[in-house]
Amino acid sequence: MSQRTKIKALLESGKTDIDVTVKGWVRTFRNNQFIALNDGSTNSNLQIVVDFENTDPALLKRITTGAAISATGRLVASLGKGQSVDVKATHIEILGDSDPEKYPLQPKKHSLEFLREIAHLRFRTNTFGAIFRVRNTLSYAIHTFFQERGFVYLHTPVITQSDAEGAGEAFHVTNFDLANVPRTDTGEVDYKQDFFGKSTNLTVSGQLEGELGAMALSDIYTFGPTFRAENSNTTRHLAEFWMIEPEMAFYDLKDNADLAEDLLKYVIRYALDKNKADIEFLTQRLIDEEKQKPQQDRSELNLLEKLQFCLDNEFKRLTYTEAIDILKESTPNKKKKFQYLIEGWGTDLQSEHERYLVEKHFKKPVILTDYPKEIKSFYMRQNDDGKTVAAMDILFPGIGEIVGGSQREERLDKLEQRMDEIGIPKDELWWYLDTRRFGGCPHAGFGLGFERLVLFVTGMGNIRDVIPFPRFPKNAEF
Ligand code: 4AD
Ligand code: MG
Repeated sequence: MSQRTKIKALLESGKTDIDVTVKGWVRTFRNNQFIALNDGSTNSNLQIVVDFENTDPALLKRITTGAAISATGRLVASLGKGQSVDVKATHIEILGDSDPEKYPLQPKKHSLEFLREIAHLRFRTNTFGAIFRVRNTLSYAIHTFFQERGFVYLHTPVITQSDAEGAGEAFHVTNFDLANVPRTDTGEVDYKQDFFGKSTNLTVSGQLEGELGAMALSDIYTFGPTFRAENSNTTRHLAEFWMIEPEMAFYDLKDNADLAEDLLKYVIRYALDKNKADIEFLTQRLIDEEKQKPQQDRSELNLLEKLQFCLDNEFKRLTYTEAIDILKESTPNKKKKFQYLIEGWGTDLQSEHERYLVEKHFKKPVILTDYPKEIKSFYMRQNDDGKTVAAMDILFPGIGEIVGGSQREERLDKLEQRMDEIGIPKDELWWYLDTRRFGGCPHAGFGLGFERLVLFVTGMGNIRDVIPFPRFPKNAEF
């Protein structure tokens, strides 16, 4: 294969009057002369100028939207508007034809809903090219952040016996013949005969295993897929999503919140540095989209400003109890505009309440702490008031909850007592309890929903558009 230069490198090199070979996919072909070529390295297309008078008409016909081509020629300063350089082609080769009658992506604006149905091709649009380059950068930035701080990347199992969140939303894993499930004498499913000899599921969180790692390695993080069989058809939920879960020995809740705030700011800054052009493109995309809305429904800050604002301001920290007081007195609560009215202490916050706090009241990211123990998981450290636990949720504008975490209950008696109260079988979690028996120590951690982070940084409105192939109820296409 001939040496090929990626378009991004070529545009950044600032060179002209050199011979180059570029390869990519045709976005458009105008006047039998101008090819807009994109190879995914950048949103910018490279213009290839074809000497059509000296090119075989049969070849010209095969330069169609979607076709893969190789073009060799001279890189020259462009005469046209909108680009700095062109390639004056001396040789064009079609590497893969694309029938223009059948190719679903036309050079026009398609709706995001339509593109979701052709997710195998949507990478080839400007919007999805930008989203997936930003996603890639964020993923790299997360590793960089933790690696720079001496955290150990720990691979927790995907198949597990535990339902870490105790929410009963796990997908079962079995290799039983479902038409012939073995039963015990008493008629229950006989998991002893199943592949693992017990009932197993896809992990909902790597936290419990992560805690085991932290009890030896001090600071660990996981970054992997997690699965939830919750039937939520929302723009914020997926059945398969990626989560980052750091777990730190000798951290309390404040250390935990500090780390989460640092992480979020670090990765957003990283993406702004590395993917400026993509984020600028996504910012303009949103501005154009909002032009169709009435003035009062448009965002006060554009995407770039919103990201910068998030970097420049400290997140607001307050307790659940303080938040409830604010919500109780809020206009939408008094005017009964909330779907779920806040009547008293103890109820879980709905996304409308979270968004009110972040978008209307504080107008910045919020870290809410010390929730009622009844609405949080068994492993959270119990506060001295006997009512709350050392939990924290981080709420982001336009997103709601982006991080959930806590200080962990390291006191064996308190942990066992809580498990008994909620009905979590202690024998199944013997290994988890062992860490409290042998050198247990104060520790804390959190989970950052990766797609919610990508949603925030790209300004997209639906979580199904920031993961290549989304899984949600009644959909596992591709
Ligand atoms: O709040 P969650 O359920 O917390 C845990 O799983 C803890 N074990 C984390 C920990 O302390 N190590 O989930 C953590 C984050 C949420 O804040 C949200 O960003 C994301 O994961 N998340 C989802 N993202 C997409 N689709 C879903 N169905 C999600 N459920 C949670
Ligand atoms: Mg949560």
